Amino acid sequence: MEDHHILNVHELKTYFYTENGIVKAVDGISFQLGEREIVGLVGESGSGKTVTALSVLRLVPRPGRIVSGKVYLEGEDLLAKSEKEMARVRGRKVAIVFQDPSSSLDPLFTVGDQVQEIIMYHEGMPKKEAVERTTELFQRVGIPEPEKRIHMYPHEFSGGMRQRICIARALALSPKILFADEPTTNLDVTIQAQVLDLMRGLHNNLGMSMVIITHDMGIVADMAQRIVVLYAGNVCEAANTHDLFYSPKHPYTEALLEAVPRLDRHKKLGVIKGNIPNLIEPPSGCRFHPRCPYAKEICSQKVPELEKIDGNHYVACHRWRELALVGGA
Ligand SMILES: Nc1ncnc2c1ncn2[C@@H]1O[C@H](COP(=O)(O)OP(=O)(O)OP(=O)(O)O)[C@@H](O)[C@H]1O
Ligand code: SF4
Ligand SMILES: [Mg+2]
Repeated sequence: MEDHHILNVHELKTYFYTENGIVKAVDGISFQLGEREIVGLVGESGSGKTVTALSVLRLVPRPGRIVSGKVYLEGEDLLAKSEKEMARVRGRKVAIVFQDPSSSLDPLFTVGDQVQEIIMYHEGMPKKEAVERTTELFQRVGIPEPEKRIHMYPHEFSGGMRQRICIARALALSPKILFADEPTTNLDVTIQAQVLDLMRGLHNNLGMSMVIITHDMGIVADMAQRIVVLYAGNVCEAANTHDLFYSPKHPYTEALLEAVPRLDRHKKLGVIKGNIPNLIEPPSGCRFHPRCPYAKEICSQKVPELEKIDGNHYVACHRWRELALVGGA
């Protein structure tokens, strides 16, 4: 099968084997990322966004385990690689930036050391050159006076600057794909906008593909060309950003958009009625059925398949043909 995507996640399942039972955090998720594309992964807390990203990088913590599926990166299945091979993929091919820049930087080392170390270790570069490269990276991510700043410690920076340092570190080995897991959630609005601008600039200038994970529909509307909506470990809808906002086909997407009346307005996801399902014993049939205003008998009996409804628009709902859903426009 010809695959022009840089990343193709197919039927990924990642479960956590806890004392209380098996948490089916990611339960058959599929999505694709094109060259130079930005895809947004959205969904409520606990829908499986972070576990999906960690699975692609093969960094799922215990008691989690990737149970099945394929993760093709440039045609090679990452799930079939040895740990040693995978260590060469991380950073070089795919890197990740997390929500909390404070906890992902080591307080005991200078920020420069934390980036140089990666370059020296993975590229066998002598220290002097690694320092130069680190300085360039700091410059690229908009850290003023990088020659001086590389010698400072994480606590000497603001939250926004720390996130820039994390981005510089993620870029150290020029990855093809950057996962950004709620990269601006902990930052105030002005700084948030600056970090997003930086990411947009990096995408334009470096030609990187990105997966942006967020709760903020405004951010994905601004940044992503495509959106994948997750609910309880499943994909419920995937479409080009414009189509998803103006012509949603899944009731859960509609509920998410109700919280964001305007495309241009940054807003957190509103609260959707009902509880997030238990992932140890998820609801039968369509997992959204206990909360769905359009649920019918079939919905609790049969799992809806993710089906292609036109060009690039996919939906998993028994009733998408009959429903006239309202977009967020
Ligand atoms: N270490 C773990 N042990 C047990 N369950 C876990 C573990 N890590 C994640 N999970 C479960 O996996 C599910 C998906 O979690 P995940 O962190 O991917 O959600 P998320 O969509 O990123 O949410 P958020 O928006 O809050 O970051 C959740 O139900 C969570 O409780
Ligand atoms: S399948 Fe049924 S319950 Fe699920 S989203 Fe569609 S209408 Fe709602
Ligand atoms: Mg998360």
